[in-house]
Amino acid sequence: MPPEFKTIGVVGLGTMGAGIAEVFARHGFDVVGLEQTEEQLELGRGHVQHSTDRARKRAKLTKAEQAAILDRLRLTTDMDDLRDCDLVIEAVVERMEVKRAIFLALDEVVRPDAVLATNTSSLSVTELSAATAHPRRVIGIHFFNPAPVQRLVEVVSTVVTEPRVISDVEELTRRLGKRPVTVGDQAGFIANALLFGYLNHAVAMYESRHATREDIDTAIRLGCGYPMGPLALLDLIGVDTACQILDTMHRQGRNRLHAPSPILRQFVAAGLLGRKSGRGFYTYAAANSSVVVDDAGTASAHGTPRRRRPLERVGVVGSGALASRIGEVVVKAGIELTQTADATPDLRTLATADLVIEAVAHDLDAKTSVLAELDRICRDGAMLATTTSSSVIEIAAATSRPHDVVGLHFLDLARPTQLVEVVSTVATDPEVAETMRAMCAQGGAQPVSCGDRAGFIVNALLFPYLNDAVRMLDAHYADADDIDLAMKAGCALPLGPFEVLDSVGTDVALDIQRAVFRESREPGFAPAPLLEQLVTAGHLGRKSGRGFREHPDA
Ligand SMILES: NC(=O)c1ccc[n+]([C@@H]2O[C@H](COP(=O)([O-])OP(=O)(O)OC[C@H]3O[C@@H](n4cnc5c(N)ncnc54)[C@H](O)[C@@H]3O)[C@@H](O)[C@H]2O)c1
Repeated sequence: MPPEFKTIGVVGLGTMGAGIAEVFARHGFDVVGLEQTEEQLELGRGHVQHSTDRARKRAKLTKAEQAAILDRLRLTTDMDDLRDCDLVIEAVVERMEVKRAIFLALDEVVRPDAVLATNTSSLSVTELSAATAHPRRVIGIHFFNPAPVQRLVEVVSTVVTEPRVISDVEELTRRLGKRPVTVGDQAGFIANALLFGYLNHAVAMYESRHATREDIDTAIRLGCGYPMGPLALLDLIGVDTACQILDTMHRQGRNRLHAPSPILRQFVAAGLLGRKSGRGFYTYAAANSSVVVDDAGTASAHGTPRRRRPLERVGVVGSGALASRIGEVVVKAGIELTQTADATPDLRTLATADLVIEAVAHDLDAKTSVLAELDRICRDGAMLATTTSSSVIEIAAATSRPHDVVGLHFLDLARPTQLVEVVSTVATDPEVAETMRAMCAQGGAQPVSCGDRAGFIVNALLFPYLNDAVRMLDAHYADADDIDLAMKAGCALPLGPFEVLDSVGTDVALDIQRAVFRESREPGFAPAPLLEQLVTAGHLGRKSGRGFREHPDA
């Protein structure tokens, strides 16, 4: 008979273990917390005290409730005290040999029917279980940080985990007020597997100087509505932890895109571990502080202002929503605007403008011919901008002034703060890009600068991640609901990947992913076959009534 869960053992009371112990104690379980030394035990108790103090301050806990929680938590340095536990969950450092030694020792102590669980983020639960006397009772229970707050729990079953153990643990996590998602034993499970590929990609982008750390983070916050940019998030997670997780994912999956970007290792070697050490991608006021302070990187991003060109008259070609939005930014920046519909055969009204921005139909040929025509009409030295989401240099090359041509990629027009990717080609004069940045900022939009690479910043980071989610679905590792839930509840993303894909359109996603793949030739960026099949079948998402899900009211 499987045990009824009453007493829970938690091994390791660090960041995660203390939170896990608190969650169980809050829900009426007796908890036995094990640490290596009295000092560490005291630190662990301090974590729970501090966290419940905060909950009391926010009136989420009464004094009596807090006292009851602390009362239910027994602390020990003696493993024998875990003897009567019905479930023991380990949350010690992410090292196989340490975890394996703990499981072996637990085997000797707990009843044969007790469940043994690991909170590992990336190590193989199967490998851990194989080291024990009863692999069928071993399972992964992956809580997210901070455990008392985050609703998602990934329940990780191995090929030998007893089905009854899986269902009991699912039920148990529901009793804790969590949303369990059950998956097989694959590096990174759902959330980390999808998150860390994206984070590593952002690091590669930073390392190749495609954009500054500030611009990458701002682009993702405003362009995707994520709570944090990827580099700031890496600092929060810990650069060393991220490196370890990527390494494990790479070892298991052999995907080159999971090999930690070289700079991550350099950061680890230099002790730049992120917030916990006071410096990582950013510099913080002190170790464990969240306050970012200026450093040499800030100086290069915002230091000596670069030269700009005078900007008094701006022309916008186009009559759609994008053209109007650009017009608003120009007017707000206090610049005289001449707006010309694309249907207007004569662009000569724009001949004296300092800058003309094309915002005509999506079609690349149309954009190229408008820019070529503007090149003929506009005065020497006038700047030209294209709103293309594909290669800017291809359009610029159709003019006699590629050095005066820049890309202005406006993302999601509906967002309160308009994000604009200011795209410089190999030919763009830095003064031109600087002039665009200033105009956008004065016009109430948020500019970020980047090179002319497929997907610029936002699409280049977003779509490969969405593509990875499609591959995960296609591999039947998890279903669309579980993947969406994992990314929203585990990583605090506003939408799950399949919600995003159905909303932007599978055809649009495929086009962008193809462009990213064509440019990089990176096998990991090849469009997922399922995405191609959906497009071929006409399942384009919300707009066609069906994509990854049915949308009957579309
Ligand atoms: N930090 C996160 O965001 C996060 C999120 C989900 C899962 N995890 C996973 O949780 C686990 C713990 O991570 P953490 O961030 O809490 O680490 P941590 O370093 O904060 O805590 C680990 C604790 O384990 C204790 N410990 C080490 N060896 C021990 C032993 N033999 N017996 C008893 N205690 C021992 C240490 O003293 C320390 O207090 C790791 O497997 C990690 O991958 C971490």
